[in-house]
Amino acid sequence: MTHRRTGVDRTRTLRSQAETESLAAALALALAPGDAVLLSGPVGAGKSAFARAAIRARQASTGLTPEEVPSPSYTLVQAYDAGGVEIWHADLYRLSDPDELVELGLDEAFTRAIVFLEWPERLGEAAPARALRLDLRPDPAADDVRQLRVRAAGGGWDAALAALAMADAA
Ligand SMILES: Nc1ncnc2c1ncn2[C@@H]1O[C@H](COP(=O)(O)OP(=O)(O)O)[C@@H](O)[C@H]1O
Ligand SMILES: [Mg+2]
Repeated sequence: MTHRRTGVDRTRTLRSQAETESLAAALALALAPGDAVLLSGPVGAGKSAFARAAIRARQASTGLTPEEVPSPSYTLVQAYDAGGVEIWHADLYRLSDPDELVELGLDEAFTRAIVFLEWPERLGEAAPARALRLDLRPDPAADDVRQLRVRAAGGGWDAALAALAMADAA
């Protein structure tokens, strides 16, 4: 197949927090160092819940006891070990200056860690060109329902998209 997956863009409904968490867990096992998952959506959409479930699932899959994964709202970044693979959880909501990104070590983390990052809008030009963009939106009609939009930029996302059950049907 010569088809190149530029512009994969899919949406699916997550009917409960448990569904969000199991999807995050499935995705976590399909990621490799260098993969960036950019989580957008309003406060309370479930970005941290998604990242937390993913990190804990990846740790559990390597035989580690899953750690507490608090929202890194104040530290902005938090690194976790998952059996030789580093996973970063970043929340840039309080980032005041893009220059801070270098101090935080994020640009370097993008090259060698799995990164879950909230508020990717704050990255500006530091946003990685190759990224899996997940956008979570609350459903105005139902408390625990979220719409998940998945966009894959750059190649190499087939395993991740399959884990999200969002692979191209073609
Ligand atoms: N389907 C769902 N997916 C994710 N979170 C959900 C869902 N349904 C309810 N929630 C709740 O929504 C809130 C999401 O909070 P959080 O993950 O901190 O959001 P964010 O990081 O996007 O600000 C949590 O209180 C969680 O229990
Ligand atoms: Mg959050």
